[in-house]
Amino acid sequence: MQAILLRSGAKQVELADVPDPACRNGQVLIQALETGICGTDREMIQRRIVDVPPGQDYLVLGHEGLGRVVETSAGQDALKVGDLVVPIVRRGCGRCNACKTGHVDYCYTGRYTERGIHKQDGFFSTYYADWPRYLVKVPPELEDLAVLAEPLSVTVKASQTALSLLRRVKFGGSYSQPGKRERALVAGHGAIGILGTLLLLEKDFEVFVLGRRKSGDFQRSLIEQLGVTYLDATTDQPTDLVAREGGFLLILEATGLSEITFQLANYLGRNGTMVLTGVPRGPKTFQIDGNTLMANIVRTNQAIVGSVNACAGCFSKALEYLAVFRQKYPQMMSKIITARYEPEQFEKPFAQKARDDIKVVIDFRTAPKE
Ligand code: BGC
Repeated sequence: MQAILLRSGAKQVELADVPDPACRNGQVLIQALETGICGTDREMIQRRIVDVPPGQDYLVLGHEGLGRVVETSAGQDALKVGDLVVPIVRRGCGRCNACKTGHVDYCYTGRYTERGIHKQDGFFSTYYADWPRYLVKVPPELEDLAVLAEPLSVTVKASQTALSLLRRVKFGGSYSQPGKRERALVAGHGAIGILGTLLLLEKDFEVFVLGRRKSGDFQRSLIEQLGVTYLDATTDQPTDLVAREGGFLLILEATGLSEITFQLANYLGRNGTMVLTGVPRGPKTFQIDGNTLMANIVRTNQAIVGSVNACAGCFSKALEYLAVFRQKYPQMMSKIITARYEPEQFEKPFAQKARDDIKVVIDFRTAPKE
């Protein structure tokens, strides 16, 4: 079967023929429909970070999958042929309490694998096999959007994390003042940033998005059509706004850039929480004013917290939100997947994200099936 993979030491992905996966007892065989390309894939390629599965010299990439069950095996009755599914990414160590209770995203030992990222092949292949406990069933009417379930699941977990911390500064049912709509800042407008914006609107925040796009640019126009204020980082708008009106109660970091992230801490308000979702790879050193940062965090009860991956429950929530978002923002939802490429056309989308791209997917529907 066809697979898009990265070999150890290689600086480019390739489309290669690899053996079809075996559908073991208890597993189901899935035919890929669409698999999304993410910043993590491009970072792994650029930095040549390939955590290959044991006994292999390559890793099949892809962790944002959507597929259809084409074969079942004895020992499972949760899924049937024809079901649409999205796979979760992480496979737990099976030993710690988090993994044993299905919260693999909180694995304590660190001995997990991640499909398409860390020591297990991913979903950029015509077929893949999996156990039903790692698969979330998708309603048929969501087929065109469900490839967004993975990035949205990450966003769902991140927002749950932030809101759980913010609960400790909620008094008598509200934050700063009864009935006040609190302000949230989303930094970045890739898939996580845009889906995070919709999610925080749903949670009734007044949302601002921070980025570097000029007025009239694609992502900025899309965001502004939601009635959300776009803050242009190049003209220092966030600093002006924060000086005038105070910092944000919630910041969702979706840039993956460490230098920007520490800058964002300056925009956090009293009792505010900032949740980080980006995973920059490789080292990067720069200077920050550590004293001011630390003093602000302590003096104003701020929380800066990381959130990675997501468990099956967050994927189910993500699918529910996709249905809600489509109903509320049909225009927006039809534009988040900005391009679909056939597997043979893989080189261009993996090389670089185009300026106007939000989510680019590889469409396996036309891939050879024999
Ligand atoms: C994925 C997560 C994964 C993380 C770290 C992200 O791109 O969405 O599922 O846990 O990378 O590998």
